[in-house]
Amino acid sequence: MSEARLIDGKAVAARLRATVATAAATLKAAHGVVPGLAAVLVGDDPASQVYVKSKTKATDDAGLKGITHRLPASTSEAELLRLVAQLNADEAVDGILVQLPLPKQIDAQRIIEAIAPAKDVDGFHAENVGRLWSGGKALVPCTPYGCLLLARESLGKNLAGAEAVILGRSNIVGKPMAALLLGEHCTVTVAHSRTRDLPAVARRADLLVAAVGRPEMVRADWIKPGATVIDVGINRVATPDGKGKLVGDVAFAEAQRVAGAITPVPGGVGPMTIACLLRNTLVAACRRRGLPEPTV
Ligand code: GUN
Repeated sequence: MSEARLIDGKAVAARLRATVATAAATLKAAHGVVPGLAAVLVGDDPASQVYVKSKTKATDDAGLKGITHRLPASTSEAELLRLVAQLNADEAVDGILVQLPLPKQIDAQRIIEAIAPAKDVDGFHAENVGRLWSGGKALVPCTPYGCLLLARESLGKNLAGAEAVILGRSNIVGKPMAALLLGEHCTVTVAHSRTRDLPAVARRADLLVAAVGRPEMVRADWIKPGATVIDVGINRVATPDGKGKLVGDVAFAEAQRVAGAITPVPGGVGPMTIACLLRNTLVAACRRRGLPEPTV
């Protein structure tokens, strides 16, 4: 069998960012509105710092306004709740993103539930979760939405009837991914660490989404020949030269020999998350003002 086609997340994300930038320019010209995204970073987790920095840069590059709030690791829950309340009330802020994980003295769920649902560009608030599952107008979590766009790149717009298997059941990826793919009329299985015979379940998939956070767990014999594989994992592993490298949840080289199409790590799902965050901020800005939504 020939090698799997690469799904180029970098290119798809660049297209989406350009579409958002065009729509943002139109919004500014027609209504004088510049969507604002407030990112909140608590503590000094290095990975979170990198994420927030690239999010803020991408926001500015797309013609949106990025504002970053950096708080010390010792920040109390009450202090963070006060900042969220202030951002909820700020007319210049259309999207609020509190970077996870949070320090242990802060209950992340309490913070998420304090964010105004209309500004919840992560789509983590119960109101958006409920709307996503019931087919309403939700703000949709960025990573799974990015995965859906990449799946469409490979399988086309019509995913109806596809056998989709999601590995992982997190609130950030696995569960919203299931809701999105059900919405696309896929037959959806959510598998996880307690699933019996994971490889056999994974092998049923026409569309396999791996979001477990375990380096190279998905092997070639977990993949149905010709399947589309979306790898959400970003795991740093040690290398002999001491530099380390990023690998996904899928053993890429061997998977590429079996799959029909596959996302690389890096350059697959990662760039899509930020592009979808920009898209959500634009959508939130339009919805809050009752303006027509761009179809991006
Ligand atoms: N930490 C890892 N992924 C995410 C995400 O999508 N949003 C937020 N807020 N934090 C994260």
